Amino acid sequence: MAEHPFLKHLREDHEEQKKLGKQLIDASSPEEREKMRQKFYEELYPHMVGEEASMFKRLKGADDEEIRGDALENLQEHHVAKIVLRELMDLETDSEVFKAKAKVLDELNRHHLEEEEKEAFKHLQKLCSDQELSELFEQYEQAEEKAKEE
Ligand SMILES: [Fe+2]
Ligand SMILES: [Fe+2]
Repeated sequence: MAEHPFLKHLREDHEEQKKLGKQLIDASSPEEREKMRQKFYEELYPHMVGEEASMFKRLKGADDEEIRGDALENLQEHHVAKIVLRELMDLETDSEVFKAKAKVLDELNRHHLEEEEKEAFKHLQKLCSDQELSELFEQYEQAEEKAKEE
């Protein structure tokens, strides 16, 4: 059975994040770093906000304790990623810790993406009908759109 468009969309975003994360780490000139961190931010931040307003809102309210626990853990990962992302955005692009911070952010994010795809997506598929997934997709897009203006 084909994957629901919502999950397919999130998975494609993840692939883009991994690609941009690598380019961010490899960026060495200040101009390149400025450009890449902005691109990475625009890809990652609205995605996280969108997930929080849809997928995680649903999973946090699940009856199953394990599903709720996993969702809370994933949300803590968003929390930490946002802090490190904010620090990276505020950093001088010639800072000696720029590459190290970018690397840690990318590692955190890759670990998070893997857990989402392995656990959160499965939970969502288990709990939700196609109709509900489509509704969550709409909620995701609305929140993502709003977050792009932040
Ligand atoms: Fe996420
Ligand atoms: Fe995600």
